[in-house]
Amino acid sequence: MKKTLRIGHRGARAYALENTLLSFQKALDLGCDGIELDIHLSKDNKLVVIHDDTVDRTTKGTGLVKDFSLLSLQKLGIPSLDDVLILVDKRCMVNIEIKANFVFDILNTTIIEAVKNGWRYEQLLVSCFNHQALHQIRQLNKAICLGVLTETSIEEALGTAKQLDAFAVHPDYTLLNKTNCQLIQKAGFRVFPWTVNEPQDIANMKALGVTGIMSDYPDRIS
Ligand code: G3P
Ligand code: CA
Repeated sequence: MKKTLRIGHRGARAYALENTLLSFQKALDLGCDGIELDIHLSKDNKLVVIHDDTVDRTTKGTGLVKDFSLLSLQKLGIPSLDDVLILVDKRCMVNIEIKANFVFDILNTTIIEAVKNGWRYEQLLVSCFNHQALHQIRQLNKAICLGVLTETSIEEALGTAKQLDAFAVHPDYTLLNKTNCQLIQKAGFRVFPWTVNEPQDIANMKALGVTGIMSDYPDRIS
C-alpha cells in the first residue's frame, strides 16, 4: 500500500501554538511530509502566517492583522511566510492556504522567488475555499500547484479542479467516501482531507487511499 503523506495542520497544532515557527519546527521533528498554514496580509503588504483575520485568539494583542506592520506582527509571534520558508528550507511540502484578498501578486512573486532558490513547485501547494481566488492565481502563473478546498461539495471542487488544471482536491474529510475519492483520483488529482484527528477517522481515510492527511496530530498518521 502506498504511504499516506503526513501533513501537519497549522504546524503540529496539538503540540504547539498553531501557525508559529515552534509549531512548524515540531511538525518537522515529527517527520511530517508537509505542513499546512494560513496566510493574511500585513499593513505593509507582507504575507503573514495566521489563521484568523484578527490577532486576538492566538496572541497577546488585539486588532485586525491588516492593521499591523510585519515587524509588529513578528513581535507578537506571528511569522511571515518567508520566515517559514527559511525555517522549512525545502525539507517538506508547504500547503499555503489563502485567507485574505489581495495576496495574489505577492504570493506569486514569493513562490517564483522560492523556486529560484531551489524549491520545487510541487512543494508549494496553494489552496483556498474561494475558488475565484484560485482562478486569479492560475491566471498569474500556470506552474503553481493548486489545491481546491471544499467543505460543501466534492462534485463542485472536482469541477473546479478540472477547470484549473489543479494538483489536488482538499475536502472536509466527512465528505469523502470510496466512490468520490476514486472519482477524484481517476481524474488525476491528489486527495488531501482535513482536519483528521481521531485515530479511527485517520484509519478510515487511509483505507480510502487518500494521498495525504492533514492533522493536528500528524504523528498519529503511520
Ligand atoms: O486547509 C485545510 C483546513 O486548514 C481548512 O480549514 O479553518 O482550519 O483553515 P481551517
Ligand atoms: Ca487552514
